[in-house]
Amino acid sequence: ESTLGAAAAQSGRYFGVAIAANRLSDSTYATIANREFNSVTAENEMKIDATQPQRGQFNFTAADRVYNWAVQNGKQVRGHTLAWHSQQPGWMQSLSGSALRQAMIDHINGVMAHYKGKIAQWDVVNEAFADGSSGARRDSNLQRTGNDWIEVAFRAARAADPSAKLCYNDYNVENWTWAKTQAMYAMVRDFKQRGVPIDCVGFQAHFNSGSPYNANFRTTLQNFAALGVDVAVTELDIQGASSTTYANVVNDCLAVSRCLGITVWGVRDSDSWRSGDTPLLFNNDGSKKPAYTAVLNAL
Ligand code: XIL
Repeated sequence: ESTLGAAAAQSGRYFGVAIAANRLSDSTYATIANREFNSVTAENEMKIDATQPQRGQFNFTAADRVYNWAVQNGKQVRGHTLAWHSQQPGWMQSLSGSALRQAMIDHINGVMAHYKGKIAQWDVVNEAFADGSSGARRDSNLQRTGNDWIEVAFRAARAADPSAKLCYNDYNVENWTWAKTQAMYAMVRDFKQRGVPIDCVGFQAHFNSGSPYNANFRTTLQNFAALGVDVAVTELDIQGASSTTYANVVNDCLAVSRCLGITVWGVRDSDSWRSGDTPLLFNNDGSKKPAYTAVLNAL
């Protein structure tokens, strides 16, 4: 195959990309994105601050720009993200307790209703665990509404759109030996045992010198899949874009039948939130980097 999406499709998977609405008018960007990828995540446009800037006033202008571009070009869409401590609008940041809990539920209902039946996977909850060795939840306004906020979010999401796969998504959870990974595993196991509706776990896979790729990522994917959830690599970028590391990530996903696909977090290095790390598959001029060829050959 000659594109990432077509190559991934040979094994029933997708190869996706994060898209920024305001870059779609750049023809080099749009041409590469349309040619190579068959799944799209909105980089920022479906987040809470973008979709509900004022309480009770939803705005899907930018989100729909990304969504419509994706669907018109035959791509599936990952929804990102409904409940998160970051990129909250000011009105939500200032809420707490039962008012914040209700606002979270209302937000899930409002956004999921707009896209009902149209989203392959939703990142219902993002980044709820603390970094480091504690294995604790991250302290946040949402966490302070009560430890059950995550399962409440998933139950609301299932009711709002029964056709979407519901994912929990996080970073620094790729290394099986890390406390954060174990804490996330315990939560997913508990949810499956108690019937809390969760279908998938997203591994962001933002690899860098502080949180490098480790070969036990495959073990992590296998162990989560064995709990009865799908897994996905949701925001892949690799500091320095080592071809070997990119190929390893592809091979790890391909080794796990429940690995749905891989999403890279941007098109060209210059599009990356970490452009200084040159972590992506395309150069700033749109040419393919060695890591691109390594990924294509591994798929
Ligand atoms: C990042 C975007 O890439 C940036 O443009 C934005 O300024 C901040 O958010 N984890 C996530 C993504 O789940 O939503 C983040 O995206 C990167 C880390």
